Amino acid sequence: MQKWIMSGLLFIACAFAIVLIFTLPGKEEVAQDAKPTMPKVTLNASAAEATMKANCISCHGDQLEGKIGPNLQKIGGQLTDEQIFTTITKGNGNMPSFKDKLKPEEIANVAMFLAAKK
Ligand code: HEC
Repeated sequence: MQKWIMSGLLFIACAFAIVLIFTLPGKEEVAQDAKPTMPKVTLNASAAEATMKANCISCHGDQLEGKIGPNLQKIGGQLTDEQIFTTITKGNGNMPSFKDKLKPEEIANVAMFLAAKK
């Protein structure tokens, strides 16, 4: 009798584990997509300027004074580094997504550089 209870419990545990395996990563992916996590990097201003020269100034102007995209000269007063990281990673309206062009560390570096502009 006890044997049946044990194997019943084991079966339920396995079924539960299988359900978890298939549902948890899916949920994490969605959460990550909505708000990508910014990797921790040490600010490297010259690398940030180089990245922006290659990728951003065509729309934001070479002094970040604004062109197709808005002026970013004082963007740190409006947005945190995490918010800027999310904008660059995912894009926003006419702002393209850079998640396939730049490494998360490069985006984080640029985000920190811009967040310091107040
Ligand atoms: C194809 C043109 C284009 C390029 C290239 C581009 N941006 Fe943008 N960006 C825009 C536009 C347009 C917006 C405004 C989006 C909106 O709010 O609809 C914007 C918005 C932003 C914002 C948010 C500003 C705010 O006031 O909310 C940040 C930060 C930003 N861009 C940073 C960057 C960085 C950093 C790069 C380079 C890695 C970059 N952009 C490259 C067009 C561009």
